[in-house]
Amino acid sequence: MIRGKLITFEGIDGCGKSTQLALLEKHLSDRGASFVITREPGGTELGRKIRSALLEGSDGSVEPLAELLLYEADRAQHVRQLILPALESGTHVLSDRFYDATTVYQGTARGFDPDLIRHLNMLATGGLKPDLTLLFDLDVEIGLARTRARSGSDASPHAKPDRLDREPVEFHRRVRKAYLDLARHEPDRIRIIPSHGTVEETFELMIAAVDLALG
Ligand SMILES: Nc1ncnc2c1ncn2[C@@H]1O[C@H](COP(=O)(O)OP(=O)(O)OP(=O)(O)O)[C@@H](O)[C@H]1O
Ligand SMILES: [Mg+2]
Repeated sequence: MIRGKLITFEGIDGCGKSTQLALLEKHLSDRGASFVITREPGGTELGRKIRSALLEGSDGSVEPLAELLLYEADRAQHVRQLILPALESGTHVLSDRFYDATTVYQGTARGFDPDLIRHLNMLATGGLKPDLTLLFDLDVEIGLARTRARSGSDASPHAKPDRLDREPVEFHRRVRKAYLDLARHEPDRIRIIPSHGTVEETFELMIAAVDLALG
């Protein structure tokens, strides 16, 4: 049995992760590939409860340490219940965010010690690393504008902005820079996908990186 590959989608809010993930789903289906689509937080039943606690706790009541530990709890469950069994059965796993998001959001942006974050990520993942991480890179202002446009459209399932959408622009700038720093340190794993162009242009850039990884 050939082990499946783990591909993770990262980047600031509104950079196009979910849009491109849906397009990749169609591309892989057309090729007859075996894969599952998932996300963090919220890839498991327990994770969905954690997700709603985290993203809908709208009154600033989630303490940063509680937030960090909830993300890691979600991840511990996700890796063991969903990701590893899928990979071991030869299924590729595409995840909308994974531990790089904690490194960046809870580490750099919220200020937790990088060694603590590394340790907790290692504990939660059991050392599992993505085969490929797609970092959709975009100016913060454009990402926020796209998110606002999405929130304003009635047809959107995201009609209510979540907690992160209300952070100041400076917060999102730190997040973007931290993601780019990670990519510089792990260029083989993390591929930067410039995302300023149209959906189709970004898709072509993503597919080139994915086809290389999946062979
Ligand atoms: N290349 C693009 N050009 C213009 N608009 C885009 C592009 N890609 C995505 N969008 C739109 O921008 C909005 C945000 O995209 P999307 O939801 O895919 O981002 P995301 O990275 O998943 O955001 P979040 O982190 O908030 O989940 C959506 O309304 C989407 O339709
Ligand atoms: Mg999304």
